Amino acid sequence: TDRWVDIAARSELPDDDVVAVRAEGVEIALYDVGGEVFATDNICTHGNARLCDGFLEEGEIECPLHQGRFDVRTGKALCAPLTQDVRTFPAKVDGERIWVLFR
Ligand code: FES
Repeated sequence: TDRWVDIAARSELPDDDVVAVRAEGVEIALYDVGGEVFATDNICTHGNARLCDGFLEEGEIECPLHQGRFDVRTGKALCAPLTQDVRTFPAKVDGERIWVLFR
């Protein structure tokens, strides 16, 4: 069943940056893109790399290992060597907290 989970304080996520959090047994990357919050799996779909260690620019996260890029808003894999999109989670801000929807 769908459930919203409170996973972080809004203040833990700096402007235009990415942080990792753990919730429900999943490592999640949280992104701030121009003040909006997005969430994806933190592990790259191509290998054992953490997207939170990558480089975020204009809503795209570049994997630190082989420089594959995902659109953090849709999870779309944008370039080689990626062949698989990354899982996304709906995210919302309620007051001081960030909530993510698990399905
Ligand atoms: Fe991310 Fe290879 S592990 S692009």
